[in-house]
Amino acid sequence: MDSGAKKPKFSYYFYNPITYVGALLAFFILGCEILLFGLDFFSENPSVYLGLVTYLILPPFLILGLILIPIGMRWKRLQVARGRMEAQPKLLHIDPSKSTHRNAFMVFLIGSTIFLIMTMIGSYRAFQHTESVQFCGVTCHDLMKPEYTAYTQSPHARVKCVECHIGEGAGWYVRSKLSGMKQVFNTVEQKYPRPIPTPVHNLRPAKETCEQCHWPGKSFSAIELKRTYYPDDPSKSAPWSIRMLMHVSGQQKHDMGIHAHMYNNNDIFYAADDEKRQKISWVKSVGKSGQETIYTTKDSLYKQNPPPANKIRRMDCMDCHSRPAHNFSAPVPLVNRALNEGQISPNIPMIKAEAVDVLSKQYASDAQAVQEIRAVLLAYYKEKQAQYYIDHTEQIEDAVNAVISIYSHNFFPEMKARWDVYPNNIGHLISEGCFRCHDGEHASFQGAVISRDCKSCHTIIEQGTPDALQRSTEGLEFQHPFEDDGLWKTMNCTDCHTGS
Ligand code: HEC
Ligand code: HEC
Ligand code: HEC
Ligand code: HEC
Ligand code: HEC
Ligand code: HEC
Repeated sequence: MDSGAKKPKFSYYFYNPITYVGALLAFFILGCEILLFGLDFFSENPSVYLGLVTYLILPPFLILGLILIPIGMRWKRLQVARGRMEAQPKLLHIDPSKSTHRNAFMVFLIGSTIFLIMTMIGSYRAFQHTESVQFCGVTCHDLMKPEYTAYTQSPHARVKCVECHIGEGAGWYVRSKLSGMKQVFNTVEQKYPRPIPTPVHNLRPAKETCEQCHWPGKSFSAIELKRTYYPDDPSKSAPWSIRMLMHVSGQQKHDMGIHAHMYNNNDIFYAADDEKRQKISWVKSVGKSGQETIYTTKDSLYKQNPPPANKIRRMDCMDCHSRPAHNFSAPVPLVNRALNEGQISPNIPMIKAEAVDVLSKQYASDAQAVQEIRAVLLAYYKEKQAQYYIDHTEQIEDAVNAVISIYSHNFFPEMKARWDVYPNNIGHLISEGCFRCHDGEHASFQGAVISRDCKSCHTIIEQGTPDALQRSTEGLEFQHPFEDDGLWKTMNCTDCHTGS
């Protein structure tokens, strides 16, 4: 434009500061993108952050640059129209017989084809990327560390987060990505509530997630469960074990197994009094032929009138399996398991009580917990069990390391995540679980009671210490481990058992 001899390469309107900035930005980002694309494509194990930058962070800037180009041109057009700038000397025209025009046209065609292909691959990779376990569990690592750590040890460790949290279909994809976007911003600003609230209200119904892989209407018979419990002090009693058959069937016992709950027989609806759905005072069961039974507790808010529709939830898999992929166990079962598997020697005096004690305390951070657990346990053995410590130093060191490992895999002080914040609703020993309804206190107007019979959900086939084992395939009367005062018959297990 400076000398009259040179012809302009682009439309007259192209030459303005806004368009320059846009073009520069677009060119710069395009250069970066080509480089990163290459890196991501050809490396065997591309980093999560590389994917994040390439497919999620940079593309909006590229688009911004491209948008600025026409905006600048439009701005200049307006300026010309208002007479603030010189009018265009000559109207744009394309003349295919001129080689300069043909070249420009080819450049445009090839350029936009490459751009289109890159956009297509890019959006697919962006989609893939946000679907990956790494994206959910690692990118937001501080936020999701508890769930991710627990998940890698769960039976669902090969099921992607999105298969339960999003499921199939574009609608849920968009919905969850929009709410995910908000979460990303909250994370950046460190605004996220700790612990992350549960239950997740917008979790997709189980029919569209769990039931894509499982079909509990087709579960048959029973599965076996074996637990071994250790006394506080090995000198007081031998370990106690219980073997039982869980009646998981969708059909068993006149069509009444555990999974018949929501399949062959009835649909169950309930209203919870609290946010975490741990106190349930109104339950409605609707049989397949449509007959309704309503069960309430004595002090239910809904004895006279049913709860408002928005408080009623239809029971599905997650109401029992609330922790299928990321369960945070309590100190007592964790220590029982480590003793049983030999990571902690069961011969060490008072080890169960001491380990449970240090695991139950609240710490400010993971680092502080590791330090204090080691210090407290070693101090106890050096002072209170001095001779045993001298004779078995290595055994105690191993036990201390095992307790620290238990802590780091199940307790997350930074996110305030632990068993008492995220109750597991399977069972009734440590959280109310089944006994939220099956506590024997939920009765219908006609006098039917939701069963608390110990034999309705499982059959105990073996119980006791190794030298005094009772066995029966018919089912045994429950005997409370170590000491049986009969209180479990009338009280709920959770009245005494908290897991710590
Ligand atoms: C097998 C299904 C399943 C998989 C796989 C799964 N989740 Fe979950 N997740 C759930 C359910 C069910 C809940 C709701 C628990 C509740 O309502 O009490 C949940 C809740 C959550 C919560 C809310 C806080 C909490 O712990 O309750 C977060 C965060 C979460 N999941 C993250 C993840 C991440 C990250 C992954 C992958 C590493 C993942 N989930 C994989 C089923 C799953
Ligand atoms: C993408 C498929 C898939 C989805 C979705 C899925 N699961 Fe699973 N689930 C599996 C597989 C596979 C196993 C078996 C793992 C094994 O046996 O090692 C399993 C195992 C289980 C088990 C048995 C665990 C155990 O201790 O053996 C339960 C309970 C379960 N799933 C519940 C659920 C619930 C509840 C949901 C929905 C929140 C769900 N699953 C969603 C694939 C899935
Ligand atoms: C009323 C509570 C309840 C509901 C609702 C429920 N389950 Fe279960 N489920 C159990 C119990 C109890 C077990 C026994 C295992 C245990 O105690 O961990 C079990 C076991 C399982 C198992 C492993 C045993 C087997 O039969 O293979 C799978 C898989 C499973 N459930 C999937 C589901 C799915 C999927 C749904 C939803 C469609 C569902 N469950 C609904 C209570 C329930
Ligand atoms: C929201 C309330 C609620 C929860 C929580 C609940 N149930 Fe139930 N359950 C019911 C109701 C209501 C019935 C009775 C259905 C009917 O016949 O009307 C029932 C019946 C049963 C039966 C049949 C009992 C019989 O002898 O007739 C089994 C087995 C069962 N539930 C297992 C479980 C297990 C296992 C859990 C926990 C993992 C559980 N339920 C949690 C409401 C609940
Ligand atoms: C509504 C169903 C239901 C009823 C009624 C029921 N249980 Fe259970 N019970 C379960 C389930 C589910 C589990 C958990 C299995 C698991 O941890 O996966 C369980 C677990 C147990 C355990 C092992 C505890 C653990 O976590 O190590 C014992 C012991 C037990 N029950 C005893 C009893 C006794 C005693 C009664 C009668 C007062 C009873 N149960 C009534 C469903 C029931
Ligand atoms: C009155 C309080 C009380 C009630 C109610 C109660 N327990 Fe216990 N339970 C205890 C005490 C105390 C111990 C002994 C702890 C120890 O010595 O290690 C214990 C120990 C146990 C243990 C072995 C300890 C372990 O390592 O987990 C099991 C299993 C158990 N109880 C099951 C049950 C079940 C199931 C119920 C409900 C049906 C129940 N208890 C109700 C007080 C109670």
